[in-house]
Amino acid sequence: MEVIDTLEVKHAQKFYGQFQAVKDINLTIKKGEIYALLGHNGAGKSTLIKMILGLVKPSVGMIGIEGLNYDVKNKEIKKRVGYLPERMNFYDNLTAWETLSFYAKLKGITKKRCEEVLEQVGLSEARHRRVGTFSKGMQQRLGLAQAIIHRPDLLVLDEPTTGLDPIGILELKEMIRNWNKEGTTILFSSHNLNDVEELAQQIGIMNRGEIIAQGTLKELQNKLGMPTKIEIDLSVIPDNLEKILVEKQIETFQVEGRTISIDCPKDKKTQVIAAVMDGVLKVLDLRLKEPGLNSIYQRIMEELAV
Ligand SMILES: Nc1ncnc2c1ncn2[C@@H]1O[C@H](COP(=O)(O)OP(=O)(O)O)[C@@H](O)[C@H]1O
Ligand SMILES: [Mg+2]
Repeated sequence: MEVIDTLEVKHAQKFYGQFQAVKDINLTIKKGEIYALLGHNGAGKSTLIKMILGLVKPSVGMIGIEGLNYDVKNKEIKKRVGYLPERMNFYDNLTAWETLSFYAKLKGITKKRCEEVLEQVGLSEARHRRVGTFSKGMQQRLGLAQAIIHRPDLLVLDEPTTGLDPIGILELKEMIRNWNKEGTTILFSSHNLNDVEELAQQIGIMNRGEIIAQGTLKELQNKLGMPTKIEIDLSVIPDNLEKILVEKQIETFQVEGRTISIDCPKDKKTQVIAAVMDGVLKVLDLRLKEPGLNSIYQRIMEELAV
């Protein structure tokens, strides 16, 4: 059996008539990785995902697995991929159990596995209810169940947290982590910064059909030269605080109550900390905060706007 290894997208483009939904995208997803596509609505995430799945044909470029041409009709490859689309249409009159049994039959899977998967996605109790009575979140869980029922090597989830309540989101994140630990490669799209920051090992930021930044969180932080925040709690704020800090060559800072926040270039951290700790200021506590995806995303969007 063919196991999906490295997935490569090379110079993929997609035109819908005159409109270009995806512009010259290159990306590599390694086996065992969690890769997130982050971007606004309309950025081109779903189109790219459908190209990767072979559901939409690229106008230009190719999708490959270890350099092989990705052939949608290759049933062996199809069997190794699970997909949760943006919107799933179920038959309202079928129960969750009947729906999943239908997918199981299609994929040649036992009923026992259906039970196991319904349990995993938290639908065991609702399994004999008609899907038409399900909330959006429950339908999303059923969608997940059909995506993982055949234990795919590559699991592709298009906006998986949509429609889930906060508990549902936490549970989904846990499931994604577990499937990944078992060796499943995961590609998901999201416009939620927290979901991406918490789950993804690799992040591709999409905007207007392009991947405008790509890498691990750390790589993105470094590429953008984002400062580290150093927060310092003082027992007293001296009257001449500004002068003291400027003498220590610390110029970008804010004071709130008895806490000073310093924006510190990455390569100056030890220098700034040593200066702060030289005994002039009465320091109670000190925290380092690396820039999160929130500020990275904001910075990237600001740079684009210029
Ligand atoms: N079948 C289609 N025909 C025409 N335009 C489309 C089609 N599918 C998507 N688009 C357009 O392509 C752009 C990207 O859409 P999509 O990939 O769904 O973005 P995202 O998933 O990031 O929200 C949007 O402007 C959308 O309107
Ligand atoms: Mg989409």
